[in-house]
Amino acid sequence: MNRDHAIGLLDSGVGGLTVVREIFTQLPAERIVYFGDTARMPYGPRPHSEVRDFARQIIRFLTTQDVKLVIVACNSATAAGLPYYQGEYDLPVIGVIEPGVRAAVRHTKTKRIGVIGTQGTIASNAYEQLIKHYAPEVEVFSQACPLFVLLVENELVDTPEALCVAETYLRPLKDAGVDTLILGCTHYPLMSHVIARVMGPEVKLISSAEETAREAHCILQKMDLQQTKTTTGLRHRFFVSGPPAGFVRIGRKLLELEIEAYQVLLP
Ligand code: DGL
Repeated sequence: MNRDHAIGLLDSGVGGLTVVREIFTQLPAERIVYFGDTARMPYGPRPHSEVRDFARQIIRFLTTQDVKLVIVACNSATAAGLPYYQGEYDLPVIGVIEPGVRAAVRHTKTKRIGVIGTQGTIASNAYEQLIKHYAPEVEVFSQACPLFVLLVENELVDTPEALCVAETYLRPLKDAGVDTLILGCTHYPLMSHVIARVMGPEVKLISSAEETAREAHCILQKMDLQQTKTTTGLRHRFFVSGPPAGFVRIGRKLLELEIEAYQVLLP
């Protein structure tokens, strides 16, 4: 591993691009290799063991691409087995759950934190356990929002239907009086304006992307692997398991970059 190697990221689809966007802001000299498992998306309703196998397969692929750090930019895959992935390779592997939890615990005043995520993430209780670990006095209110991922991937976020779905899912959290809401799925920042509209301005939305990028920065610094030379036209690489068109369209808009994506058929 050396400084010129890339940061590898994976998600079921476009969600992890919210972490990429933050990497571009905080670590502009770094090159990234991204894998979106669009053919098998959504991960949320799948059993943990299956999501874990998918993530392992993708991490194996990323390790063939000269990466120095892997970010599991997917809450469902993080909840399904981060310690497994960490134990398998010599390179650092980080997830997106712990960084978001730390930010939420720091922010809450009322000690009432809401968590939204996929069915898999919410069922795992990973957020609740970690919040209680950092701040046992905090009350946690969790809600699975399975349709959000499909709204994002199908570019239906700015529709009346999306607002209606958000109102239905978020009502119990609003009623519970949370002052902080963790967007426990990397797809959700892509519809944060809809979520904010329902929750109101007094509720702080926490996206783990920012905190995760910060953690990546710390790890690279500590390992003396941070890229220091700035090169123009970095050759980022994007791979998907399904047809690339939709991914590329959303990715270009989100990253404001003319990305291309290549389809890789996983066994
Ligand atoms: N973006 C992912 C997450 O953070 C996966 C969503 C899905 O595929 O259900 O959980």
